[in-house]
Amino acid sequence: MTRIRAAITGVGGYVPEYRLSNDELSTMVDTSDEWIMQRIGIKERRILKGEGKATSDMGALAVKDLLDKTGTDPNDIDLLIAATITPDMFFPNVSNLTAHKTGLKNAWTFDMGAACSGFLFALETGRNFVENGRYKKVIVLGADKMSAIVDYTDRTTCPLFGDGAACVLLEPSEEDTGIIDSMLHVDGSGAPSLHMKAGGSLRPSSHETVDRRQHFVFQEGQTVFKFAVSKMADISVEMMKKHNISPEELAWLVPHQANMRIIEATARRMGISKDQVMINIQRYGNTTAATIPLCLWEWEERLKKDDNIILAAFGGGFTWGSLYLKWAYNGSKNS
Ligand code: UT7
Repeated sequence: MTRIRAAITGVGGYVPEYRLSNDELSTMVDTSDEWIMQRIGIKERRILKGEGKATSDMGALAVKDLLDKTGTDPNDIDLLIAATITPDMFFPNVSNLTAHKTGLKNAWTFDMGAACSGFLFALETGRNFVENGRYKKVIVLGADKMSAIVDYTDRTTCPLFGDGAACVLLEPSEEDTGIIDSMLHVDGSGAPSLHMKAGGSLRPSSHETVDRRQHFVFQEGQTVFKFAVSKMADISVEMMKKHNISPEELAWLVPHQANMRIIEATARRMGISKDQVMINIQRYGNTTAATIPLCLWEWEERLKKDDNIILAAFGGGFTWGSLYLKWAYNGSKNS
């Protein structure tokens, strides 16, 4: 019997127009372009402006882009999974609201919250629905409006994050292309180093939590940095070894975009050159669940059928993992 794999057959994306530069940030907190470029590698990040604009609005624009480019009828989508930690509201889900805004009348939907590894966790989940024959068209979306939960008076976190959304279409493939393997991990003991202190069931929102500025990203940068470097590099090297992929055979590493130094360390450990790494952190910053699909969206034109690609991420939780796939088509899909 032919083996069915779940293959990415299209990519869509959206980034907001407003560019928050390091120079503008330097007017808000005590920082500089030089420090941010040296320690993080971000030049600017996109910010979703406007009253009433939320994560699902970016998600909807990304999904529309995907449907247009692949010539897909919204009625044919079976399932939409959205990875996000910045839902429009506690409920309904971002995926639910996005489906409504894009006319996915026959899809059911759910959200996944695995922070910066969210897209990988969602991709692995979507993959299984396709591989087991249950569904033919699954959209996996990564979308985050990080500006909604970033404290723009805290110089240790505010330069890091940006807003954006991107998604992929998963369809069955009988060729030897598609998702081949994934390795995913969590370690809840990392929670104290990267979390949001209030607003959940542990510490519901109150005047006090607002006064204490507890509704923003809290991060112990150095601790997270150390874990991110070792875990993301280890898991990517492990994936290469498991599948006997030499550095020359790897077409692309698609790393989560949290810090240029983490990306460079991962590439070094894998023995690959920077030319084999998708990097757009300088333009978008860390868009959490959206970083990896935004890279695929930007690089789509240059991708070729059978390209060996490793996706890798590390994030809050802690969560981390890598996913190995063979790209399924040549160049950009524009129906
Ligand atoms: O995607 C989720 C996972 N997140 C990550 O992977 C992020 C991991 N962490 C990091 O990327 C880095 O730890 C940061 C970029 C957050 C911080 O860089 P760092 O090299 O670890 O700096 P640090 O926290 O050790 O701070 C060094 C110095 C401190 O000053 P003193 O104590 O040496 O006088 C900070 O107060 O830099 C200072 N500093 C800044 N200076 C200018 C911290 N933030 C800034 C800033 N501008 N924005």
